[in-house]
Amino acid sequence: MCGIVGYVGMRDPIPVILDGLQHLEYRGYDSAGVAVVHPAGIVVRKRAGKVAELVAAVAGDQALAGSTTGMGHSRWATHGEPNDVNAHPHTDCGGSIAVVHNGIIENYAALKKRLQARGHLFRSATDTEVLAHLIEDFRKTAPDLLSAVSAALREVTGTYGLVVLETASPGVMVAARLGSPLIIGVGDGEQIVASDAAAIVAHTRQVIYLNDGEIAEIKADAIRTTTLQDVTITKEIEEVTFDLSQIERGGFAHFMLKEIHEQPETIRNGMRGRLRADEGSVKLGGLEHVQERLAKSRRIIFLGCGTSWHAGLVGEYILEQIAKIPVEVEYASEYRYRTPIVGPEDVVFAVSQSGETADTLAAMREAKRHGALVLGIVNVVGSTIARETDGGIYTHAGPEIGVASTKAFTSQLTAMSLMTIMLAKSRGLSAADARVLTTELAAIPEKVERVVAQADEIRRIAQVYKDAKNFLFLGRGANFPVALEGALKLKEISYIHAEGYPAAEMKHGPIALIDEHMPVVVVVPRDAIYEKVVSNIQEVRARKGRIIAIANEDDHEIGALAEHVIRVPRTYGFFGPIVNIIPLQLLAYYIAVARGTNVDQPRNLAKSVTVE
Ligand code: F6R
Repeated sequence: MCGIVGYVGMRDPIPVILDGLQHLEYRGYDSAGVAVVHPAGIVVRKRAGKVAELVAAVAGDQALAGSTTGMGHSRWATHGEPNDVNAHPHTDCGGSIAVVHNGIIENYAALKKRLQARGHLFRSATDTEVLAHLIEDFRKTAPDLLSAVSAALREVTGTYGLVVLETASPGVMVAARLGSPLIIGVGDGEQIVASDAAAIVAHTRQVIYLNDGEIAEIKADAIRTTTLQDVTITKEIEEVTFDLSQIERGGFAHFMLKEIHEQPETIRNGMRGRLRADEGSVKLGGLEHVQERLAKSRRIIFLGCGTSWHAGLVGEYILEQIAKIPVEVEYASEYRYRTPIVGPEDVVFAVSQSGETADTLAAMREAKRHGALVLGIVNVVGSTIARETDGGIYTHAGPEIGVASTKAFTSQLTAMSLMTIMLAKSRGLSAADARVLTTELAAIPEKVERVVAQADEIRRIAQVYKDAKNFLFLGRGANFPVALEGALKLKEISYIHAEGYPAAEMKHGPIALIDEHMPVVVVVPRDAIYEKVVSNIQEVRARKGRIIAIANEDDHEIGALAEHVIRVPRTYGFFGPIVNIIPLQLLAYYIAVARGTNVDQPRNLAKSVTVE
């Protein structure tokens, strides 16, 4: 989604801003722009398309030279099509105030009407432009930019992470946040504000996280933070831990491929210091203080979107079967608008890679309002969900840059598996059974390695199906969500229509789609319902569907039933999804590559969906 980078200091801001915007490209966007402050006015340059086009357009542009304060933005269109005019920054009537904004101004139409009636001249179709004009109005009487921005924001309904510059205050950035993340990187004689630490870590690791309702006046050597009502807030400087090398491709053709290959290591990282296989024990520091309430809870509710929702569905199978706790899994976007029945007896987990997904945040706040204990399963340290929950589990997958989520999913499943063992023990699981489970879990990274090693074979299968129009993915039990996730991966990055179904549900409708052109991917491990899934495969074969089976290494029957077989090591049933999803990630990846799509930044998608 939209990205913000602002700079104030001693250097030329443009290289810092453009480099920052490039580090935010993974979030998904459709246009970009920059602005710098000069005493004679603010200079703005904007381009539809990629940051590279903006970089080319501003190369050698002398009008941008000589400033030490500037900002940039990458826009993911909400109001108004992606073109040069609608790209940010947006300016007021006289071009002396400029704004970049992430989020949505919900009452923009009413504000725009009012401002137009007062003579303000609008140029774009965006909601953001009203901010520039509104601030212009308040600035006429406000003592400084911060006061003017505060006054304007008090009139706004909606969400924002924004940065404002003005010609009257060279050397000052004003940044404010409500529902859309902003981080200030504190440097030596310079400050960088950004919507994502990825744009900051090349310059400093010392950061201040702005909270909702906070506004900051940022100068090269000082930061003043207040509420919109001018109450001073003292902020702590924190340290960001991730390395720049983690957000580079490291020799892989795409971030997605790199992240698929990282999974043995990221799964290990998620278990490190938490899993004692020989003792059959699990220690999760972020849950220790709530362990009793968790063990006694009436039920667990997972809230999430997309891949994180799929992880919750797998979690439901694992927790109900092993820990015997009732689990519900909810689309976060639906949950908040259906007056959920939830209370202090319930434990809610917000599941999110980014920790910034607007729907998930809103849903967990709703659950909190009803008194539920709200915890997180989150990847990005210091993200809003992580900070607003009462504890939880960091998944430690490291930065995920590919828009299609891969390593975050397997790390979420790892966290849920660990939590399951911990809870099951506190609810009566025997030490011997716990040891069996912890030993199984500890063996997973090596099994994932064995599947990743088959990438070449999966690439050959992808070549066969690259021109398919539709795909069906089938699985049963805990592998049903794996089928959903496999279908999501394929449609996101290859634009092939794909659906996931519980294998037995196929005969209730989707079977009508099956003919000799329909590839059907079936996850069919040798578990208690193996024979049932084989029957479903027979139903597909009888209608000439083309079977790609994800089957165990020691399954000697499946070869006769499937056109292609991808082998996965046998894994204890409920942990199987962590291994079984890997071939589906690789299949989606290689099909997308064969079709020539933009794998890491697929059309219309954003890495972190910070609007409702
Ligand atoms: C799928 C994907 C999305 C995200 C969803 C939730 O590949 O990336 O479906 O899973 O937008 O995002 P997080 O987990 O950041 O809350």
